[in-house]
Amino acid sequence: MGSKKIDTKWVRLDMGAPLDRQVEQWGKAIRQGELVAFPTETVYGLGANGLDAQAAKKIYRAKGRPSDNPLILHVSGMDMVSPLVERMTPLEKKLMECFWPGPLTLVFPASSNIPSMITGGGSTVAIRCPDNPVAQALILAAGVPIAAPSANLSGRPSPCSASAVMHDMDGRIAAVLDGGSCRIGLESTVVACGSDGIVIYRPGAVTTEMLGAFAPVKLDDALVSGEGIPKAPGMKYRHYAPQVPVHVCIGENTALESYFSALYQEGVGFLISEETAQHLPNEENVLVWGKRRDVERLASCLYESLLDLETKSIREIFVEGVTESGMGLAVMNRLKKAAGYDIREVDR
Ligand code: TXA
Ligand code: MG
Repeated sequence: MGSKKIDTKWVRLDMGAPLDRQVEQWGKAIRQGELVAFPTETVYGLGANGLDAQAAKKIYRAKGRPSDNPLILHVSGMDMVSPLVERMTPLEKKLMECFWPGPLTLVFPASSNIPSMITGGGSTVAIRCPDNPVAQALILAAGVPIAAPSANLSGRPSPCSASAVMHDMDGRIAAVLDGGSCRIGLESTVVACGSDGIVIYRPGAVTTEMLGAFAPVKLDDALVSGEGIPKAPGMKYRHYAPQVPVHVCIGENTALESYFSALYQEGVGFLISEETAQHLPNEENVLVWGKRRDVERLASCLYESLLDLETKSIREIFVEGVTESGMGLAVMNRLKKAAGYDIREVDR
């Protein structure tokens, strides 16, 4: 870690006014090799010039990220993709047309323009087009693809607000552009297209069910078994984790409700549904995401809730799991990793 601290600017954007002028200097800063964090519809990204190996190197240093873990390039539209890839298939084109801008990242064979610092030394490059006006304006102002991992220290929950970015990145980056909280709250779906269909490397808000309308879909084997080497190198690390142990509990509703109410005590944190919360005291260590079936609400508050409980001098956190369909697959993927795969099946 560099010893000289940077004076990180917290740039509060006026979301009611045109953004191009407000982000112009930060686009320029990115082009010139600085790190600038910015909001996307998924989580905040830590942006650097995606064609500049030295700038990308700064990302790894700021995050404390292992250098074999490749970065996603963020573009403002499909027209920016051709120079970055070796080739594009009809299926990939169709997915970009249908889901961009939005939370879908595609892995392509990389063109020779891409620094190996971006690809993690591999032959592929991940590209996504974010659906957030600040992200869009910043990419246009930079005039280059922006390499951006989530703007957290490696292994920690991804930030969904500028204050969460500052918590991890203050003193390490030039600025954070504050565009409010992120709509989705979980990182993008990462996929690769092959001759036999689509493989999901990381589940997200573009779900298996949605992709299935275009081609056969399968999950990367390592995601299903929790073993072996995942295709998205980032998925192999313990991840998304607060500093206190997390446990995930799943099971039949009434069994879960009595299990949680028996667990309740001071110093233990909970993130549970409204239904389960009826059986627990209404205290500040009990966070409620909404109705049990409202998995999108859980996704959007998951990281913030873990970070919030972490600050409340709590010894351990129990989270109510959800069904692994639709967005529930992404939520459970992140929860399992946050919990280091400590999943408790409750049956009575
Ligand atoms: O929603 C998102 O994708 C956010 C926002 C900021 O856009 N970004 C993000 O980046 O989550 P990061 O670096 O935290 O996660 C990128 C994931 C990692 O698991 C990485 O291993 C995988 O994508 N990845 C990147 N390039 C890849 C490649 N060429 N092949 C396979 N996996 C790749
Ligand atoms: Mg990340």
